[in-house]
Amino acid sequence: MFIYYTSSNTHQSKKHITGHFSTPHFLIMYCDSGIYYINAISSISMATRIAEKNLERDRNVQGKNWLFTYSSYFSDEENIQIFIDAVASVLSDKELDILYVGSASGLVGERLITSLGKGKLTLVDISQKHLNENINPTTTKICADILELNLEKTFDLIIMRSSLDYFPSKDLQIQVLKIIKNHLTPNGLFINQPAYIPPIEDRNLVSNIYNQTEKMGDRFFQSTDMKELYIESGFSEPQKIGDGKVMYLTEQDHIQRYELTYWEVKGIQDLIKKNRKSQYALVTSNGYKLRFEFPIFLSK
Ligand SMILES: C[S@@+](CC[C@H](N)C(=O)[O-])C[C@H]1O[C@@H](n2cnc3c(N)ncnc32)[C@H](O)[C@@H]1O
Repeated sequence: MFIYYTSSNTHQSKKHITGHFSTPHFLIMYCDSGIYYINAISSISMATRIAEKNLERDRNVQGKNWLFTYSSYFSDEENIQIFIDAVASVLSDKELDILYVGSASGLVGERLITSLGKGKLTLVDISQKHLNENINPTTTKICADILELNLEKTFDLIIMRSSLDYFPSKDLQIQVLKIIKNHLTPNGLFINQPAYIPPIEDRNLVSNIYNQTEKMGDRFFQSTDMKELYIESGFSEPQKIGDGKVMYLTEQDHIQRYELTYWEVKGIQDLIKKNRKSQYALVTSNGYKLRFEFPIFLSK
């Protein structure tokens, strides 16, 4: 079988991929800012499907809008300071080699390095567009899928913020945590600030709300059962070292970010109505309101 592909991306020089495939085949190709990912295999790997989906779903915020998304929650000065204070409270004095996974443009990592006055920063994100926004020449930027990460080096500190939920099952999150653990020095620290919903039933409901539409799913948010994932991955039990501001999201936030339609909002309202008692997902007159906590956890 002969497969021929021509890119229709007018911003990049045209790329042609040709090949012979003797087995049943699919050609999957996705492009983010000139980076082409190609799979020509009979069954597409789970990691690839997730990476592809994460890129596609965030297309409206990559490279320009991320830091303004959700009322600028992720670039909010107070939130950044809470994160820096929590991290600084557990660091030694030595010069640190820091890895930031799922970094987008790496703002909180850059601010951490500035505040420490020393250290080296490496960013890893699946979106080249996000990484392109970081213009610090001393920061290393790596466009890669965390699920396939092998940097062949270890770091004193690995940070992650609001990214674990992009891996939509416990098993995948364990895989991610194991990969993170493999990139830590023996005494290295992992500091994670996940989107967190303490009652497990409410976490399941909010994850289901996201998974109600292809535009927002697949997601699996963190809850009190996160510690089992950490232990299973070889980490110590996560210890809370800080608390980011609570984030409230409404249907308007999701309409802007994911282009939800009236019927999709209605579908989410109907799902919430079946679970009226949740304090983390409420129906409102125009749509809904979701509540996320953002605790900061330390683990070794
Ligand atoms: C909610 S954003 C958080 C960005 C940043 N940590 C912050 O706090 O501003 C999640 C990030 O994870 C990245 N991401 C999603 N799936 C990924 C994957 N498989 N490998 C690497 N990065 C991924 C996204 O591109 C995005 O930048």
